[in-house]
Amino acid sequence: MSSLFSSYQLKGITLRNRIVASPMCQYQAVDGFVNDWHHVHYPMLARGGVGLLVVEATAVSAEGRITPGDAGLWADAHVDGFKRIVQGIKEGGAVPGIQLGHAGRKAGCTPPWENGKPLPKNDPRAWEPIAPSALPYMPSEPNIPRAMTLQDIHRVQQDFADAARRAAEAGFEWLELHFAHGFLAQSFLSLHANARTDEYGGSLVNRARFLIETVATVRQVWPEHLPLTVRLGVVEFDDGAAQSADEAIQVVHWLKEAGVDLVDVGLALSTPAEQVPWAPNFMVPYAERIRVETHLPVSTSWLITSASEADAFVREAKLDLVCIARSLLANPHWTFQAARELKISQPALVLPVPYAYWLQKW
Ligand SMILES: Cc1cc2nc3c(=O)[nH]c(=O)nc-3n(C[C@H](O)[C@H](O)[C@H](O)COP(=O)(O)O)c2cc1C
Repeated sequence: MSSLFSSYQLKGITLRNRIVASPMCQYQAVDGFVNDWHHVHYPMLARGGVGLLVVEATAVSAEGRITPGDAGLWADAHVDGFKRIVQGIKEGGAVPGIQLGHAGRKAGCTPPWENGKPLPKNDPRAWEPIAPSALPYMPSEPNIPRAMTLQDIHRVQQDFADAARRAAEAGFEWLELHFAHGFLAQSFLSLHANARTDEYGGSLVNRARFLIETVATVRQVWPEHLPLTVRLGVVEFDDGAAQSADEAIQVVHWLKEAGVDLVDVGLALSTPAEQVPWAPNFMVPYAERIRVETHLPVSTSWLITSASEADAFVREAKLDLVCIARSLLANPHWTFQAARELKISQPALVLPVPYAYWLQKW
């Protein structure tokens, strides 16, 4: 029977356990270039014992950054910095993954600790966001996005493919496309953000077209033996929650046909009107439903903090992988503590030797 500490194989990649360091933006890059912050942060998380580490949302183009400090892979010159991260993650025993994204109408903001709001137009760091339609996320927002032309759409899809090629060149072995959180791909899917009347708006198949085509374009350049995954916002917690959750099942079927190997089940967050029912493990039933109805492997995150509950989700075949974010910021060795709590007999399996040697006897 599978458990939190059983290994996991997807395509040609094997994870040492089912724990994933969920992508977490650091907002510490300069012009997309990663630096010492990232070169310490990521290897540290890997040494803590996770099976897979997914590096933060990395912009496929400069205008796709959430903040000026987002990491980027829109130029070949960005690749070298990521090679060092990959090496550090591998030395820590985890599989190196990366999330590629475009923030769409949520681009061009300050980092959360400065309020996370759009940069004022007169700020020299500001830029014009692009989106399916000229609809801002907050009705009161000053920077209204520019509605994308068909040319913009095809250019951004190519940006995803080019960034994926660079991610492979940097040595990443697991790719996640950011199709959640109200960013560009999610906003194509959402009627709150997409009022287009062409083949990218209106019906579900039209609203999903950007996502499906992007996956197909990326699949052409991302190595066949490596997992291609998406984080998809599978429910909009507003009046239409049930309908959006039903639609997500259809979208996942299409994503699977286009070449997706696993879905990280996430939040839509495409309108400020959403009332998210925050509670421990609340996204697990949504993930389980996708797993059962589409037969694709799934992971999810959001308020999963207990090792025994995480273990049960894998044992009961509700999740294939369990994503952990803030608990790892609080304690990069959360995995080691989970192994201890679950009485895994050989912590040496989940920690590098210089830690494992001491902690085994401790
Ligand atoms: C500091 C921070 C940065 C985050 N950045 C990203 C990101 O880059 N991409 C993403 O999809 N989710 C991001 N998230 C969401 C996490 O991946 C995760 O889904 C969320 O924090 C819920 O997991 P948790 O309850 O274990 O923290 C971020 C969360 C935090 C706390």
